[in-house]
Amino acid sequence: MTTSLSRGPVTCFGVHILDILGRPVSEIPPGQHSILIDEIRATAAGTAAGTSVDLAKLGVDVRNVGAIGDDILGDFTLRLLSDNGVDTRLISRFPSTRTSATILPIRPNGERPALHMPGANGDFTAAHLTADQLDAITGSALVHFGGIDAMTALDPVAVGEWAAKAKLNGALVTMDVLRNGDSHALHALEPVLLHTDWFCPNDEQLRTLTGEEDLGNAARMVLALGAGGVAVTQGEQGCRIIDGDVDVTLPALKVEVLDTTGCGDGFDAGFITGLLAGLTPVQCGWVGTVCGSLVATGLGSDAGITNLDQVVSILSGLNDDDAREGARALSTTQVA
Ligand SMILES: Nc1ncnc2c1ncn2[C@@H]1O[C@H](COP(=O)(O)OP(=O)(O)OP(=O)(O)O)[C@@H](O)[C@H]1O
Ligand SMILES: [Mg+2]
Repeated sequence: MTTSLSRGPVTCFGVHILDILGRPVSEIPPGQHSILIDEIRATAAGTAAGTSVDLAKLGVDVRNVGAIGDDILGDFTLRLLSDNGVDTRLISRFPSTRTSATILPIRPNGERPALHMPGANGDFTAAHLTADQLDAITGSALVHFGGIDAMTALDPVAVGEWAAKAKLNGALVTMDVLRNGDSHALHALEPVLLHTDWFCPNDEQLRTLTGEEDLGNAARMVLALGAGGVAVTQGEQGCRIIDGDVDVTLPALKVEVLDTTGCGDGFDAGFITGLLAGLTPVQCGWVGTVCGSLVATGLGSDAGITNLDQVVSILSGLNDDDAREGARALSTTQVA
């Protein structure tokens, strides 16, 4: 039987960061010495932008809302997004503000120390939101809030109201964060968590936000705040999918790791693609797992993922019924 696959639209609201990455980097050379490295790339990254690029590669109709500066880094970020198929028309450009950017010297083992310059992400306030941007957020099949914890000028109560409107209009709501947190950060996220179907932090973020070492207890704290489910990622350990009914741990795929930057954004994009197709939470977790693992195989948050067919083919080769059923459902759906 052929079911109907929603390809969106998805709106990614949140942080936009230009990543400049180089690998492999074992040390910063002393004095003014230089070293030769294999590869340097620039990518549109951050919890909203990075996820949007991966979603576009997976064939999802995606548009972004957020802020960049009116500078060359911003031009570059827009070009990277639009070249990958992301609709950038609703991204605000702030005059006299720099686009948020990060330099990432990637270690030979794939670890990613980061040198970050905050910029326009930290300047976006609820008052900046235009009517068109609000329409996009509240009129999508799914809205993904990415990194609002790092948008320090943004009132989370207003974001909660946007999320509530989106839900009233029938949208799914997902959220991921950029930083580690604490109880204040969790409190600030509460108005949005109340309307969030799936919260997708990494394990360290979930632990620091909740103060709970045990991931199950930490997830249950978030469920008690109103989230429908928690998909917590654990790097090479995989992920855990927890809602009122299931608590399942999925392993990461064994891949040759070049750079783990943006694996979480890749996971989110896969998970969201599964949600749009009506997959079960565990099947969505598998789609996220494949996408996150693929991102680890190349340099930058947009590396590794080519398209949905590639992901379906990997899923169908896994020795797991949920993964294979997810692959079957994704490949037999028709674009609505
Ligand atoms: N070393 C790895 N090997 C295989 N898969 C990995 C590896 N690291 C990450 N992944 C995959 O990507 C998913 C997300 O990774 P991770 O938990 O590192 O996200 P994150 O910390 O949120 O990353 P980011 O914030 O940079 O996007 C994992 O659940 C796993 O499936
Ligand atoms: Mg993450």
